[in-house]
Amino acid sequence: MKLNDKLQNNDLYPFHMPGHKRNKNFNIPASEIDITEIDGFDNLHSPTDLLDDMQKEISKLFGAKKSIISVNGSTCCILAAISAVAKENATIIIARNCHKSVYNACYINKLKVEYIEPEYNTEFGCYKNITQKSIDTAIAKHPNACAVVITSPTYEGYISNVSCNIPLIIDSAHGAHFSFADFLPKQAKADIVIESLHKTLPALTQSAVIHINNEKFFEKVKKYMNIYETSSPSYVIMASIEKCTDFLKNSESYFKQYKILLDNFYNKVNKLGNIHLLKNDDITRIVLKADGYSGEELANHLRKFKIEVEGAFLEYIILISTVCDTEDGFNMLLLALSNLEKRDKIHTGYEKPDLPMKDCETYEIEETKEEYLEKAKNKVCGEYIYAYPPGSPIIAPGEIISDKFVYQIKKLYESGVNILSDSNLLPLKILTKK
Ligand SMILES: Cc1ncc(COP(=O)(O)O)c(C=O)c1O
Repeated sequence: MKLNDKLQNNDLYPFHMPGHKRNKNFNIPASEIDITEIDGFDNLHSPTDLLDDMQKEISKLFGAKKSIISVNGSTCCILAAISAVAKENATIIIARNCHKSVYNACYINKLKVEYIEPEYNTEFGCYKNITQKSIDTAIAKHPNACAVVITSPTYEGYISNVSCNIPLIIDSAHGAHFSFADFLPKQAKADIVIESLHKTLPALTQSAVIHINNEKFFEKVKKYMNIYETSSPSYVIMASIEKCTDFLKNSESYFKQYKILLDNFYNKVNKLGNIHLLKNDDITRIVLKADGYSGEELANHLRKFKIEVEGAFLEYIILISTVCDTEDGFNMLLLALSNLEKRDKIHTGYEKPDLPMKDCETYEIEETKEEYLEKAKNKVCGEYIYAYPPGSPIIAPGEIISDKFVYQIKKLYESGVNILSDSNLLPLKILTKK
C-alpha cells in the first residue's frame, strides 16, 4: 500500500506524537496527515516497508543505484555525502561556488579545502561551469584528495559535465527535474548526486534525495543520513515526495506543455529589445537583466505586477520556472517585462573576482572578534558572508579580507542585494580571527 493511501485511511486515535493530535480546533496546517513512526507506517531511519518501496521506486525513476530520501533538504544530504567520503586529515577539492552546506560539511569533518575556480560570465557577473581541465589540475596537485565536490547546475543554470578518478559528489540541488524531459540537460553521473525535489519539482519544502551510484558508499551515506536527519521525519514531507514520484512517472505531457510555455515566453522576451537573457544550459532557469536597471530595481518592478522573484543580484534577477507553472503565470511575467520603461544601457561588464587568499582552514579558527569593515582589510575573516539566496560564500572563515572584498560588499549593500553574515554585524562590522 502507498503512504498517501494509508494516511488518508488512518482512523486510529493518536495517543502519540505529534502533540496537535490532528485536532482540527487548533488549525495546524497539514495536521490531518502529520503522524509519526506508528505501526504500519515504516521508519525512514530503517525502512523495510512502504518507505523502502518509495526509495526503490525513486532510484529506478532517477536511474540511480540507491536513493535515500531526505526531509531535511539537500543540506542534510550534502553533510552526509561529504562525511561519507571524508578521511582524517584529508584534503577535499571543492568548487568555490559551492553552497554553504558543503563548507559546513568540510568544517565538521576537519577537511583541508582546495578550491576549483569555475569559469566566469563577465557580462552578467556570475560563475559558470567547471572545466574538466580545472578538475584534472586540482587532482594532479592533490592526488590523495578524498573527493571532488561541484555544483551542477549552478543557481544560474550552468551545468558541468566532468568526471574524475576520485569520488565525485555533485550538488544538483537545482537539477532534480533533469531526468524527465529531452529538452533538459542530462543529469550528471557521479558517485553521489544530490537533488532538492522541492526546488524544481512538485514537492514540499525540505524534500530532497541523495543518489548513491558507488556501492562503496552505500552504508556510510546511510549511516550519516541517520546521524544528520531529524529522528522525527515529517510524514507530510514524505507524502509529498510520494506524490511527486507518482507525478513524475506520468509527467511527459506536462513537460511538453511546459516547453511550449517556455518557448513562447522566450520568443516574446527576445523581441522586447531591452531585456537580456543569460544563455545558460537549463532553459527552465530564467536569468535576465534589463538595460539601465539593477537587479533590485527589476525585482521591485515585478512586485508591482504581483510577481516575486527567486533572487535579485547586482544587475540580474533569477526566476525559477518549473513544470508546475501556469500560462497565466508566464503571461503576468511577460506583461510586467513589456511594461518596463526603457532606459539607456550603462554597464560595461564585470571583472572575474580573484579567488580569496587563504590563511587557514575554517576549523582552525578558535576565536573571533568584531572589527569595523573598513579596518578589517588584510585580516583573516572569521565568519561566512554570502548572498542569500542561494547561500554560497563570498568569503569564508580563514580567507583574507581584501580591499576588493570590502568594496564589493559595500556595492552589494548599496544595490540592495540580500547579504547575510553569520554574526549579523554587516554592513558595519565583520568577525575576524582573533
Ligand atoms: C546549490 C545548492 N545546494 C544546496 C542547497 C541546500 O538545499 P536545501 O534547501 O534543499 O537544503 C541549496 C539551497 O539553496 C543550493 O542552492
